[in-house]
Amino acid sequence: MDAAFARTGARLAYLQSAVNNPTGLSLHPERRRPLLEVARRHRALVVDDDWARHIRLDAPVPPPLIADDVHGHVIHISSLAKPVAPSLRVGFLAARGPVLARLHTAVVTNQLFVARPLQEVALEFLTSAEWPRHTGRLSRTLVARRDALLAQVRRVWPDGDVTPPRAGFHLWLACPRGVEPGPLARDAQRAGITIGDGDAYFVGEPADARIRISFSATSERQAADALVTLATVRDSVAVQ
Ligand SMILES: Cc1ncc(COP(=O)(O)O)c(C=O)c1O
Repeated sequence: MDAAFARTGARLAYLQSAVNNPTGLSLHPERRRPLLEVARRHRALVVDDDWARHIRLDAPVPPPLIADDVHGHVIHISSLAKPVAPSLRVGFLAARGPVLARLHTAVVTNQLFVARPLQEVALEFLTSAEWPRHTGRLSRTLVARRDALLAQVRRVWPDGDVTPPRAGFHLWLACPRGVEPGPLARDAQRAGITIGDGDAYFVGEPADARIRISFSATSERQAADALVTLATVRDSVAVQ
């Protein structure tokens, strides 16, 4: 990041330190402090998108980067749209020091406020006994879906490298040799299955051939069946 700041003159870095979408990986604990030090040296801001904290599965999620931010370089963002409902479009941020004051002014001038009824709904839900019950249920459901999908990956997707995510609802699955994610995603769509073409997640040249499979909205049975269909599509697009 040091070299990237120096080369580009950028003043802001965006990352998902706790759980990355789509890889499911976390920033290594030993890289947290050097990263904040680099941001301080370049007088830059770090936007830490903590989108998955409230859709934790069965492993601890690392603390947000802002927990180590003594100089006020981190802007921590998250939202209720994923853990509660897509239509509850209430996001929130945390920051400290001068950057918080600047953000406050920007929010007030640009968008006034989140609609009051939405704020009330969010507040009521977050402070009710239902919130921990809801996130617990969400975890259990998603863990069952993730594990069923991983078991099916092992059955029908041999050698498919995948890291079980600790939060969120995506598998970042490697394509076998000879299979390109673009044609696979396109033909899968024709077969009624929507997956993410992994190439779309790379800024430059893709480092490897991957697809993103989401397991938030499909039952265990649907996902297992879909993976069988996907494996058939995979074999039909494979270049020998
Ligand atoms: C990493 C990441 N950040 C932010 C968002 C946007 O979240 P929201 O739906 O709350 O706007 C998404 C949505 O998919 C996401 O994957």
